[in-house]
Amino acid sequence: MTTLTSRPAILPQLDALRVLKLSGALWFVIAVIGQAAFAAYILGFYGVSTAQGDFERMDGRVFHGFIDGDLLGNSLFLSHVLLAFIITFGAPFQLVPQIRNRFRTFHRWNGRLFLLVAVVISVGALVLVFHRGVVGGAFVATGNTINAICILVFSAMTLRFALKRRFADHYRWAMRLFIAASGVWFFRLGFGFWAGITGGTMPGSAVDLTGPFDRFLGIGHAVIPLLVLELYLLARDRGSSTARYAMAGGMVGASAATALGIFMAAQIFWLPALH
Ligand code: HEM
Repeated sequence: MTTLTSRPAILPQLDALRVLKLSGALWFVIAVIGQAAFAAYILGFYGVSTAQGDFERMDGRVFHGFIDGDLLGNSLFLSHVLLAFIITFGAPFQLVPQIRNRFRTFHRWNGRLFLLVAVVISVGALVLVFHRGVVGGAFVATGNTINAICILVFSAMTLRFALKRRFADHYRWAMRLFIAASGVWFFRLGFGFWAGITGGTMPGSAVDLTGPFDRFLGIGHAVIPLLVLELYLLARDRGSSTARYAMAGGMVGASAATALGIFMAAQIFWLPALH
């Protein structure tokens, strides 16, 4: 009797959790494809330009790039974009359970490299933006600073729980770190998504990033993806069946938005640079 009465209560919970995890996996697979495209752009554009010594070519892609006589800024910028490849390419491997469990030594060394590069790139980027100033003004500067601080704090927490061998907490902070370290990627995706849904007209966006949409995205790119992750974790760990289904629906929507953002960002930012 107990089995008969308790089963129906448990089954919907399990189904909702499975559906939620599947929706999370869907988003992650799309994100990995998008990060691979970004990594290919970084290598194909910044890596190849550096190997050829063609630094002027980089100027057209970003606001500041190389400035004559600015040794500090130029060195920070070059190291930033080259180290970006290690982060963007290496991060997804850390979060795939099959890779993590089967190739533990790889996971440890790739993780150490990731943490080191994340700290170096964030501190370097903070120095760079305060040294040169930020295009887009206070909103973009605030978003950049929030992003850098999140990367530094999440790196510390990820390492802390790995050393304490509290792996559930370690994984939770590693997910946060993955999202924060993808800030620049989300920024590009945000513009891609906006271009996609407005047919390329992009109202509220200005060339110098001071339009209302630019201000929203300037902070939003650093905050919104982290909020979505927190909602996902809340629904996964403590949500009712209804909350889990609702969050799964939200993740499918986020997956569609991410896919559109990747597709458009590739057309606007990445593919033209490789021609
Ligand atoms: C750890 C993750 C990060 C990665 C992978 C990364 C990657 C990149 C890449 C690839 C670019 C060139 C963009 C392009 O060609 O479209 C770039 C530019 C830039 N990044 Fe980052 N970045 C990261 C963190 C940060 C942080 C935390 C900040 C702010 C404090 C920052 C500030 C900037 C700025 C201001 C530029 C443009 C430079 C210019 O206009 O000259 N980045 N980043």
